[in-house]
Amino acid sequence: MRKERIAVIDGGGRGHVLLSKYLKSNHVESGIAIPGNDFMKIGQTKPAETFQNVATTDVNSIISICQDRKVTFVDVAQDNAVRAGLVDALRKAGIRALGPTAEAGKIEWDKVHARIFGERNALPQPEFKWFLSEEAGIDEVMKGADEPRFIKAAGLCEGKGSFGAETRDEAVAAIKKMKYLKDNAGRKYLVEKWLRNDDGSNGEEFSSHAVTDGNGWKVIGLAQDHKKSLDHDRGEMTGGMGCVSPPLVADGKIKLYANDIFKRAIFGMGLESNPYTGILYLSGMVVKRGGAKKVYVIEFNARWGDPEAQAIVPGIKTDLFEIGCSAVSGRTSSIDIVADCRTRVVVAGVSPGYPGNYDVVRGRRIHGLEDAQRVNGVELYGAGLKVEDSKYYANGGRLFYVVAEGSDVIMARERAYAAISHVFIDGIGRPHYRTDIGWRDMERLLRE
Ligand code: GLY
Repeated sequence: MRKERIAVIDGGGRGHVLLSKYLKSNHVESGIAIPGNDFMKIGQTKPAETFQNVATTDVNSIISICQDRKVTFVDVAQDNAVRAGLVDALRKAGIRALGPTAEAGKIEWDKVHARIFGERNALPQPEFKWFLSEEAGIDEVMKGADEPRFIKAAGLCEGKGSFGAETRDEAVAAIKKMKYLKDNAGRKYLVEKWLRNDDGSNGEEFSSHAVTDGNGWKVIGLAQDHKKSLDHDRGEMTGGMGCVSPPLVADGKIKLYANDIFKRAIFGMGLESNPYTGILYLSGMVVKRGGAKKVYVIEFNARWGDPEAQAIVPGIKTDLFEIGCSAVSGRTSSIDIVADCRTRVVVAGVSPGYPGNYDVVRGRRIHGLEDAQRVNGVELYGAGLKVEDSKYYANGGRLFYVVAEGSDVIMARERAYAAISHVFIDGIGRPHYRTDIGWRDMERLLRE
């Protein structure tokens, strides 16, 4: 068997779980992560290297590193690397790359493009209009009904470019935020109708991840993210404060709806001569309309979710390298993806202040991570952590993820929170984390 050297393009917990899983494959002899983080090198059974000074958008440097290290397979897991054309460049250099071309990845990095594509392909989605100027968007809102809307930046925004607005005034305020978003992400933006249940209550979000070679596709796993910074879904939008997998909202019927969306999206892109290969992430909203549940597309992501990957990937029993290769070489239809039947809960430990200013935390020592890792059924994945002389220091907003498995969400949650209770930051106290991850499924189980 040829021994492979793999690379993962990501620096956070998602990159950590992917690197760890690829290194477990019998095909793989070593791995690198670009940029990676210090924590992901610890405890691996095979050589693992990181390149923390290289940006995920630095296509030329990444190609040079991969050529230099004789990397044979790359999982491009970061959205801005897709947009920068890394998959295109890797393929041109003769290196197998799991991920979409920049053009196919537009389904994530241009949300206006995604909605227009959805319209052409009859995907269930909210009514939308899109704008390039603040005035035009405000004008549209002011002449429309005083109803709930979502205002969404078209560009990549680390999960922070979408704003729910209950009223016209809130919609106008959200439109005014567009010009301040990072990297000009709100230069173009969407004004969408807020999808609600018949009784006016909110629908329920979930995500499903598929792997595809552009023709065949298979679902890898489902999850439910918790995007707001505070309990009870209050606070600011973040890159994700935790999730549960699989989410109970996704019953058999909901999965069929989601699969139908994958089918239309993947075939639609193929028919438009823009085939999508790699991991496709569907963010869906379950809404009760006319007494029946339906799934609408909130958005697509052109990659693994973060922290969804931390919840889904550990439970995959099929060799992840073989799954990735099946997509790269047009064999996805023939691979069986088997997962264990455990429930996993992910809790993100973040710097107090995140997603705002957390300067006061940076550089402080973090204690208790080893104790957290010793809790039965728990694994830890690192993100904004520095490790020096076996000591851990805060180096970012999202610091680490506790991933706990159990026979159900109750057991997984108990373990996750027991683990994170061991962790504290010098001079600060506990990291910030949400205490209600998986609350919807807890309520469901406790009602039964
Ligand atoms: N957790 C949301 C995302 O990865 O986009």
